Amino acid sequence: MVLRIVDVLDSDSPQASLTAEGWVQTVRTSGSVTFFEIGDGSTIRHLQAVADASMAGYADLVHTPTGAAVRCKGDLVASPAKGQQWELHLTDMEILGSVDSDYPLQKKRHSFEFLRTIAHVRPRARTFQAVFRVRHALQMAVHRFFDDRGFIQVHTPIITASDCEGAGQMFRVTTLNMADPPRKDGAIDYSKDFFGREASLTVSGQLEGEIFALAFKNIYTFGPTFRAENSNTARHAAEFWMIEPEMAFCDLAGDRAVAESFIKSIVTDILERCGDDIDFFNEWIEKGLRDKLESLVKAEFETVPYTEAVSLLEKSGQRFEYPVKWGLDLQSEHERYLTEQLLKKPMFVVDYPRDIKAFYMRVNDDEQTVAAMDLLVPRVGEIIGGSQREERIEMLDAQLRHFNLNPDDYWWYRDLRRFGGVAHAGFGLGFERMLMYVTGMQNIRDVVPFARTPGSAEF
Ligand code: 4AD
Ligand code: MG
Repeated sequence: MVLRIVDVLDSDSPQASLTAEGWVQTVRTSGSVTFFEIGDGSTIRHLQAVADASMAGYADLVHTPTGAAVRCKGDLVASPAKGQQWELHLTDMEILGSVDSDYPLQKKRHSFEFLRTIAHVRPRARTFQAVFRVRHALQMAVHRFFDDRGFIQVHTPIITASDCEGAGQMFRVTTLNMADPPRKDGAIDYSKDFFGREASLTVSGQLEGEIFALAFKNIYTFGPTFRAENSNTARHAAEFWMIEPEMAFCDLAGDRAVAESFIKSIVTDILERCGDDIDFFNEWIEKGLRDKLESLVKAEFETVPYTEAVSLLEKSGQRFEYPVKWGLDLQSEHERYLTEQLLKKPMFVVDYPRDIKAFYMRVNDDEQTVAAMDLLVPRVGEIIGGSQREERIEMLDAQLRHFNLNPDDYWWYRDLRRFGGVAHAGFGLGFERMLMYVTGMQNIRDVVPFARTPGSAEF
């Protein structure tokens, strides 16, 4: 079997006649010796393969272009070069796939904006190799956390008829001929559509997650979610992945405790398993990243009620673009001020005004606020949104009326309150936002393999 390059580099002894495969990252000739850096995506480090002029075919190999796919054979020996333990003394190198001259990843560094336009070769760029390795490791860490604690993963539907967040930002799913749809009383007749009703891509798996929490106690979802919000920011995507745990017999304090240990656990995992990549981000993307992640694991997250957050902002003397006033939602500039300037660590803002949050959140005794929590972190802002759910049927109905929603549309959600309903709570972590936090990457488009944002779905 051909070893992965990470295993070659981590070898504990020299090895005779070893084979490695990968893509040529750089070629450098010095006197009668040529050095090839070979990468295969298994690690940020490259294998240095060395050819000398006596090797068969040397004259041609010297012209191997960057990006070529190669199979190298040789002896792994201790390297005299600094910063690497081993190098491969080539006995043979076969070019399996050559490279046309318009290959866009030649030596020079490209901007992230440019690389987005070539998403078919972007994964070969060093930064993106690191990003997508960490993306993989992060999702494994998520599953490990919940599996270790007995949470059941639920595959909630991607096509749905309910608007969980009630924000009307859904992508419609239809097989009707939109050039000439069936009509009834002037409006489009969705009873003739595929599902016999209007359907959309889900914005959240929460409502279905609640069904399973009230059967299995502790569950989580991890799936794609879709939002047609036309906000062209560095933190919003139209298609993103969300992790949504839901716990029965749990209140807001319990919810917060799970969220805090969850975030700490997945960061610990990444520090342990992706050390090389974190060092790379620390050097090239966000200075101080490693310290930030290491101190997060030890920090105690703050909890600040919304009302207090608003008065902290009012007293701050800062000039904000958007107004700060009790009853208005916090904007990202406010969130970032609180977590970056004021507290300088992750913080939960809890107990938001009822009117600016979703209908399902549990109404507090003051009847003005709900048992909501957002987790804010420096640089990224909100990464988690969650709440205790309204388990009292009368209160739930009052909330539905309050938000002008039709209780009949929520018949099964209401039933859950009548059939052994119990206090329960959960939250949603935006997977890409978490990845931005962990890698220091500043734009959500650069942590998604193929970003879907307003006006953009080329790949
Ligand atoms: O705060 P949100 O809207 O909460 C919910 O959807 C709840 N149903 C979750 C729950 O209680 N089970 O979204 C949760 C998180 C946000 O905190 C943010 O990290 C991320 O999802 N998010 C987005 N990430 C990228 N692009 C977008 N357009 C996002 N919208 C939300
Ligand atoms: Mg939110």
